[in-house]
Amino acid sequence: MTLKPPSVSRRGLLTGGAAAGLGQVAAAAPATAATAADDTGTATVAFHGPRQAGVAQDPPAHAAFAAFTLAPGADRAALGRMMRLLTDDAARLTQGVPALGDTDATLAVLPARLTVTFGFGPGLYRAARLPSPVADLPKFSIDRLQSRWSGGDLLLQICADDPLTVAHTQRMMIKDARPFAAVRWVQQGFRRSPGVQSPEHTQRNVMGQLDGTANPRGGEIDPAVWNPDGSSTLVVRRVRAEMETWDKLSVTDKELAVGRRMESGAPLSGTLEHDRPDFAVLDETGLPKIPDFSHVTRARVEDPRLKILRRPYNYDGVPDASGVPDCGLIFAAYQRDIVEQFVPIQKRLAEKDLLNEWITPIGSAVFAVPPGCAEDGWIGEQVLA
Ligand code: HEM
Repeated sequence: MTLKPPSVSRRGLLTGGAAAGLGQVAAAAPATAATAADDTGTATVAFHGPRQAGVAQDPPAHAAFAAFTLAPGADRAALGRMMRLLTDDAARLTQGVPALGDTDATLAVLPARLTVTFGFGPGLYRAARLPSPVADLPKFSIDRLQSRWSGGDLLLQICADDPLTVAHTQRMMIKDARPFAAVRWVQQGFRRSPGVQSPEHTQRNVMGQLDGTANPRGGEIDPAVWNPDGSSTLVVRRVRAEMETWDKLSVTDKELAVGRRMESGAPLSGTLEHDRPDFAVLDETGLPKIPDFSHVTRARVEDPRLKILRRPYNYDGVPDASGVPDCGLIFAAYQRDIVEQFVPIQKRLAEKDLLNEWITPIGSAVFAVPPGCAEDGWIGEQVLA
């Protein structure tokens, strides 16, 4: 068998002739690919602490967002019992220890950077007869929301570098939540797997864009995401990507819609991904190189306290019978305050953002993210105890 890289023509790809060859390229060039660390399966993220895990850490490759509707009559005391139980599950499973009564302990031993992050929707505060720190988003003109992807009284954001770990954790925790809450929706998503892309590059999303470049990182995360008490907030939007029409665009048109290059992620005013976008630079016709209708122009926030931390996952459902894909982003964003930070950005995007032609919000939910807890505590104790 020859390992010489084949020339991969579009025609070859279309006729399927290059498929076997692509496999050979991968086999022939292992030295240039990043390799997954040996500890991918056993790696853990601390569960206990003043802030919940699963927010500031780099997002692992797989996620399940599970939202619940509380059982009628679930009061503050019942919610406290539920959160003690679910906290105990999360504290164990994230460290590779089976949950109490785990029905398959063998599935719990490879946490793969598992985190479980809890969010409380407005309905949980209503049930507990407490004022809610979060309220549903206002309606935006671009929204085509479906109730099957919207709302929720309780959210579990379960993330790990392995989908089996996520599935097991989801199953165990839904089982334990059952006496208190019914499943409202579950959204499963993915990003690049560990070792596939070199870590200095931002991951690509299903639309082929480098997604996450301008996110706050390191010390920039604190002022944007955490309140002094260790709490935060989360917005989860399911945003469908209209791939059939997106595919028809030229690369240049895709770049104008976002304001960044498809290949490098560089702003249209610069050359490297992390060059600072310069919205004043004009092209030869006198127009801004980064159009004022582009996604990054409209979404841009300079004040470090007003930025949001985007933690999106791709979804890819079952195509319809004619092959039209069902994919997009589970757009998850963390910020101190939804009204102060998220809403103004979403409002500007709804008013004018060329990318709106190819993306449609079809689900929306908001959650307060309570502080983390000590080893003898539980998530939500400040609210529900
Ligand atoms: C399918 C939906 C979306 C796609 C495909 C998408 C894609 C992108 C891309 C490619 C970038 C440029 C690279 C980067 O900095 O990450 C970007 C930036 C950004 N997006 Fe989105 N986005 C989507 C939805 C949203 C939503 C719903 C919001 C908030 C309401 C949002 C807020 C932002 C912000 C704040 C930036 C950074 C702007 C800057 O400071 O340069 N995006 N997005």
